[in-house]
Amino acid sequence: MASITVIGVSGEERLLEARTGQTVMEVIRDAGFDELLALCGGCCSCATCHVHVEGGPAEALAAMSEDENDLLDSSSHRGGQSRLSCQLPITDALDGLRVRIAPED
Ligand code: FES
Repeated sequence: MASITVIGVSGEERLLEARTGQTVMEVIRDAGFDELLALCGGCCSCATCHVHVEGGPAEALAAMSEDENDLLDSSSHRGGQSRLSCQLPITDALDGLRVRIAPED
């Protein structure tokens, strides 16, 4: 179990409970943030689950795969802290993570 803070595109900020076994994408989607489209359902093939990691234990995030890196390159909103939230499994170590949903491309 971890608590993560999610900031929507409009600036809405919410503290969410996240369970091990979920991904960050699933936590955000289940909380009703419609702007996180997650069109491929977590298959790492759409890049519509793009978030910017703004704080917390970023070092505890899963390593970025080549596929994730290539997909993020297709976004005009890529920054140094960009990740695809479907590629981020929740662990207890992510307690305190803070992510902002990236604008739609
Ligand atoms: S949901 Fe499609 S890449 Fe993450």
